[in-house]
Amino acid sequence: MIAIGCDHAGVEIKKAIIETLSVNGYEFKDLGTDGEPCDYPVIAEAVCGLVTSGECEKGILICGTGIGMSMAANKINGIRAALCSDSFSARYTRLHNDANVMCLGARVLGSGLACELAEIFLSTGFEGGRHQRRIDLVTALEEKNRKLK
Ligand code: RB5
Repeated sequence: MIAIGCDHAGVEIKKAIIETLSVNGYEFKDLGTDGEPCDYPVIAEAVCGLVTSGECEKGILICGTGIGMSMAANKINGIRAALCSDSFSARYTRLHNDANVMCLGARVLGSGLACELAEIFLSTGFEGGRHQRRIDLVTALEEKNRKLK
């Protein structure tokens, strides 16, 4: 199950990605927005919540640049969100970073490229090995940050 959400800037790209998900047999939960103006952190929290709870295996977030969504998503413990605008990054953020959320910029990308990036992100596995140690270090940063509060 894939969680997907966007702000008002990302509605058309989200529709295109949902179409691609359906064609490729992915199940998804659409967390909005359907067009009404909204604040991207609210959508990021909703999508990431489904990923951290385990209800969804991965998330896709779209805003104008993808930057606001990625900033918001990466504040959430357990989320490794990658802002992608090229296929190499979409592939390697899965292979090496085990990214569980991908962020896309609707005002940066055409819908064809956005759909292709989503497909790469969803179909590429994590390589593990030495990369797991680095993921563990990233997770340890979350823990350290929690203790500072
Ligand atoms: C909304 O106009 C825009 O600021 C938002 O979609 C996003 O680009 C923020 O990072």
